[in-house]
Amino acid sequence: MKAIQVGLLGIGTVGSGTFNVLQRNQEEIKRRAGRGIEITMVADLDTVRAQQVVGDSVKVVNDARAVIANPEIDIVVELIGGYGIARQLVMEAIEAGKHVVTANKALLAVHGTEIFAAAHRKGVMVAFEAAVAGGIPIIKALREGLTANSIQWIAGIINGTTNFILSEMRDKGLDFDVVLKEAQRLGYAEADPTFDIEGVDAAHKATIMSAIAFGIPVQFDKAHVEGITKLAAQDIRYAEQLGYRIKLLGITKRTPKGIELRVHPSLVPSKRLLANVEGAMNAVVVNGDAVGTTLYYGKGAGSEPTASSVIADLVDITRLHTADAAQRVPHLAFQPDAMSDLPVLPMGEIVTSYYLRLLVADEAGVLARVTGILAGAGISIDAVLQREASEGENQTDLIILTHDCVEARMNDAIAQMQALPTVLAPIIRIRKEELK
Ligand code: HSE
Repeated sequence: MKAIQVGLLGIGTVGSGTFNVLQRNQEEIKRRAGRGIEITMVADLDTVRAQQVVGDSVKVVNDARAVIANPEIDIVVELIGGYGIARQLVMEAIEAGKHVVTANKALLAVHGTEIFAAAHRKGVMVAFEAAVAGGIPIIKALREGLTANSIQWIAGIINGTTNFILSEMRDKGLDFDVVLKEAQRLGYAEADPTFDIEGVDAAHKATIMSAIAFGIPVQFDKAHVEGITKLAAQDIRYAEQLGYRIKLLGITKRTPKGIELRVHPSLVPSKRLLANVEGAMNAVVVNGDAVGTTLYYGKGAGSEPTASSVIADLVDITRLHTADAAQRVPHLAFQPDAMSDLPVLPMGEIVTSYYLRLLVADEAGVLARVTGILAGAGISIDAVLQREASEGENQTDLIILTHDCVEARMNDAIAQMQALPTVLAPIIRIRKEELK
């Protein structure tokens, strides 16, 4: 049978990896897919470099629309990124009846509803394993492997750049700014790392996982997004003394009132496997009612790890493209006419536990007033740590860990504590996930 013809839009790091792995493993991939899969056309603005990557047998153009217009191309792989031209090209490819593979989490998290609706109308597949956690097959696991379950929650380290920075901050006791510069020098962080360090990249990925886990539309605009830029080295140290590590987590949870969808730094008990995921690695923990807790670990970025996911999608499409569209796995795991309207909850309604650091005057009654406010708000304390003040020092750090409470209640309590004259600086609040 004739090989499936693939056109790449963009041949940077992931595109080159995809080309190389497809070449290297072509025989094995063919045995799995049932027919060959060949990249026969590539569009890239740098045609000279692109031609060097793919050699003379592949047609290279500088116009992505030439790939979409080519009737021989069965699958278009979008590796451009962003929501601008990539969105137009994906929509045009769908309209042209092409299946699409994309690694573009930003595009799907923000415009997924429109893209999946168009794909459904045209009876084509849009596959996106590479969009979340790079080489880890988490989309496949959530959508297919765990399909028996009512998924309860997901918590993931889904941004390698920030995990690398947090690991370095903990290992070396350095501040965020120092480690960021070093990460940029070593090529672990982008020249413009905003999306990574502000939590946006992780929130794109969490949004996609949330949709697949709970059968809700992708709703990036409802996600709470908080990065690691304000994290101080001393909080990492205090957390460690209390038996926790701080990780940037993407969290989505089913609750009786709706869905929590949030990205922020979180204390995680040091004994949990997730707390021990170091450097640029990714990991996702999924809890389902039948299976319990499962963990997926691996490289979340990089040329061949991401190519591994892109090619898995190419194989899936190759196997399924002759199947009746209604018999294929739905894009977001649930049938399009059976999506849930469970709301994504505002942050005030989420329930979690907290780490608080207060710089307080070291005098009689301060601890009692602080704990009195928490007790008055019905917030139960789990642990308290007070730094021993140095000789002649009249202030100290008070660290409090709480049990679960509703975030709005914690906001009120923090406002009351902040108003005490003996609380000398803005209170630091970091959420805590026990992941039981
Ligand atoms: N910039 C991402 C990260 C990789 O640091 O994990 C691509 O999603």
